[in-house]
Amino acid sequence: RLYQTGVRHLCEQPIFKVPGRYILPLEERPLRVIDTTKLNAGGAPLISLPAVDFSELTNPSDRPAALRSLAEACENYGLFQLVNHGIPSEVMSAMVDGSTRFFEQPYEERAKYMSSDMTSPVRYGTSFNQSKDRVFCWRDFLKLTCRPMAQVLPHWPSSPADFRVVAAAYAEETNSLFLELVEAVLESMGLGRDGSSIMNQFEEGSQLMVVNCYPPCPEPGLTLGMPPHSDYGFLTLLLQDQVRGLQIQHREDWVTVEPIHGSFIVNVGDHLEIFSNGRYKSVLHRVLVNATKSRMSIATLHSLPHSSTIRPPPELVDEGNPRRYMDTDFASFLRYISSCEPKKKNFLESRK
Ligand code: SIN
Ligand code: FE2
Repeated sequence: RLYQTGVRHLCEQPIFKVPGRYILPLEERPLRVIDTTKLNAGGAPLISLPAVDFSELTNPSDRPAALRSLAEACENYGLFQLVNHGIPSEVMSAMVDGSTRFFEQPYEERAKYMSSDMTSPVRYGTSFNQSKDRVFCWRDFLKLTCRPMAQVLPHWPSSPADFRVVAAAYAEETNSLFLELVEAVLESMGLGRDGSSIMNQFEEGSQLMVVNCYPPCPEPGLTLGMPPHSDYGFLTLLLQDQVRGLQIQHREDWVTVEPIHGSFIVNVGDHLEIFSNGRYKSVLHRVLVNATKSRMSIATLHSLPHSSTIRPPPELVDEGNPRRYMDTDFASFLRYISSCEPKKKNFLESRK
């Protein structure tokens, strides 16, 4: 049962083979190279992801064009690179550094936060869904509920000593950035900038921070850091280090997202897909592991409050574009997805 203590702990002894519990069936393994004409020099499929320049969104004369790029990216890719976002680089690097030091602590220190209680404000764990996964994935994680901050903060890890302060600063910055971004997303769909009371709900919204640690893996072709999934919230702000691993599904292919230092990847989540009545699509993504390097990523998932109903506003529904999803609220949606396999795009469509 060593696998239940996580991959970092497993790798504390030299390990030359992936244990059986982590080996995916052949058809689910990450195939590295399919069509060599689609690869760049680094061996990753050639794709240039759409970029959104946040400084253009905040500049009135550039905003209309930036909103069009935002809409195009959310419709055609389900994600974009966000550059010039304005979060101080010290806040970002302190978060990466604090998280690295958290994971470097002895197993016993990390294990204090292991919990199967999905409502706990702090949860340390491994794999994707530790209690259900047939095949484990090569990831350890720390999940922190971020709101209301004053209530959750005392539950966050007290070691390393500066972790709470650093992670709270990062959570506040990403939340402010999310609020500006979601306002732009609403406007990009033609919803008036302040015409929608939904912005008030976002002010009181939910935020979950997930710190992912993917140790080097002796046989990276046999397993995954994370299986294909889409994120459930409105938007995810993802900070990845310089080690490649994140792939998105784009036009039937798995393509690697090149890390751009200091930028965020912003994912459309399932709640935004439902809210937009299918115009913006949550994107399937997965994580490859690496034979030599450890990789870290920090995702913050933002959405409405847990009690809110998620449904498209009347402006986005008409005869030509009828309702495609049932109303849902956060809590039932979470129950629903945790009862399903991670590849939930298929059943999202079937919720019409
Ligand atoms: C995630 O899907 O939440 C994490 C992606 C990554 O590690 O890059
Ligand atoms: Fe994700």
